[in-house]
Amino acid sequence: MERTLTMIKPDGVNRNLIGEVINRFEKAGLKVVGLKMLHLTKRQAEEFYAIHRGKPFFDELTTYMSSGPVIAMVLEGENAVAKTREIMGATDPKEAAPGTIRADLALSKGENTVHGSDSLENAAIEIAFFFSQSELLL
Ligand code: PPS
Repeated sequence: MERTLTMIKPDGVNRNLIGEVINRFEKAGLKVVGLKMLHLTKRQAEEFYAIHRGKPFFDELTTYMSSGPVIAMVLEGENAVAKTREIMGATDPKEAAPGTIRADLALSKGENTVHGSDSLENAAIEIAFFFSQSELLL
């Protein structure tokens, strides 16, 4: 069993896609074991995406991620990290496989509706960024 951190980005929340996105993860057998809505500050977004600091899109990314509320959630299941990323599809919706969240719903490489941890190691870091132990199902 693995746990991974997923976010519904501001474009997903704004376009009333919270239920649609969660439904896709749940239908695939992933269990929601933690969930909250929050509006990140620019500084929090810069901390969360610190690995991308220095890249040309860093300011655009962190400005966007702090532009409106997001849903942060922890999903649990077998191979949860890889499974979540498969359901999300490639970062750029133009390259995402048909039937994935990003192919069906995302607007652009930035406004791409969802985020998912890219490794088990980063999942642990990202889960701890948003959730304390007492906010997660045992
Ligand atoms: S990299 O350099 O290959 O690791 O970058 P990539 O995986 O393509 O993207 C990393 C995250 O940055 C977001 N991104 C952007 N946001 C806003 N504007 C622009 N132009 C932009 N380009 C990339 C992209 O959605 C990825 O977000 P996450 O949340 O990690 O999926």
